[in-house]
Amino acid sequence: MRRIFSGIKPTGLLHLGNYLGAIKQWVELQNKVDESIFCVVDLHAITALRPENLSENILKIAAWYLACGIDLEKSKIFVQSMRPEHAELTWILNCFSTMGELNRMTQYKEKSEGKKDSVSVGLFDYPILMAADILLYSATDVPVGEDQKQHVELARDLAIRFNNIYAKSGSGSRDIFTIPEPIIDAGVRRIKALDNPLKKMEKSSASALNYIALDDSPDEIRKKIQRAVTDSSDEIVAREDKPAMTNLLNIFSGVSGRDIKSLELDYRGKNYGEFKKDLAEEIILFLKPKQKKFKEIFADKEKLRQILTDGSESVAPIAKEMLGKVKKAIGLGI
Ligand code: TYM
Repeated sequence: MRRIFSGIKPTGLLHLGNYLGAIKQWVELQNKVDESIFCVVDLHAITALRPENLSENILKIAAWYLACGIDLEKSKIFVQSMRPEHAELTWILNCFSTMGELNRMTQYKEKSEGKKDSVSVGLFDYPILMAADILLYSATDVPVGEDQKQHVELARDLAIRFNNIYAKSGSGSRDIFTIPEPIIDAGVRRIKALDNPLKKMEKSSASALNYIALDDSPDEIRKKIQRAVTDSSDEIVAREDKPAMTNLLNIFSGVSGRDIKSLELDYRGKNYGEFKKDLAEEIILFLKPKQKKFKEIFADKEKLRQILTDGSESVAPIAKEMLGKVKKAIGLGI
């Protein structure tokens, strides 16, 4: 039985990195596995920021899931904070994790750099909440961008550790947790910021020139692509010494479905200006139907709330059963 689980934080706008790194894979995988569960992970959204309009943002992310092709016949969508089991399992898993392993998390190191004493405990604990999300549903596959790989690996380590402890103690509870596998699109990995190809495209960036949001207008897209940082020589190839062009080709390939080699051939001898013009039009063409669908879905918020409430109810038995098993194995309660 293959079950996928993944999620996105409702901290701001969705961008092409979220789409190409995560949602695109979800849409493909939902047809290949037995069950798919996609979550709007709102408890993760408050670890570092105090996002404004959080409730509305949650609905927006859910609407984008549907607009991008998540199919309710095949997949369930819900909101993390609507299922209390996530926070409860997080506490339990906290007691099976060490400060050392959380201190090694790259994302934590980056986000807390220079301000270790003032970041929230939630930011430090964030990977455990993510492990709880994944392990509650016995997910076998976790499609994410490369930046989340280390967190999925931590979930694996915790699952193995927990299984070992409770299999050995003779409590009869063998292999409570399923060991999850990160699924990363080999072609995409990490979409980089348009204004700095050495950093990832990020929705919480201070500059809108960092990303293409899924709801950017054609003019905004043209402007952002035109102003995207380029490498020193006018050569359109994906190569290690050309991070900016590699990133733009990656995006071109992701939105057009064409492979990078054939794009390189087509643009041999052409200049950056021509390439960027075509790339912007390709992104606009790609986003247009999704933006139209998003508007329709988001216009009916009551329906969206109902979909998320139904989703939460339909995943409840899985989450409750797992939490029950974990508590029984440990001996919590009477
Ligand atoms: P988040 O909200 O930062 O990002 C959502 C998804 O988008 C991917 N992503 C990218 N992929 C390629 N290039 C980029 N520039 C880029 N930026 C973001 C992320 O890898 C992610 O797949 N902690 C997670 C959310 C989460 C989760 C989970 C995921 C919470 N619980 C359980 C999977 C399973 C996060 O903050 O993703």
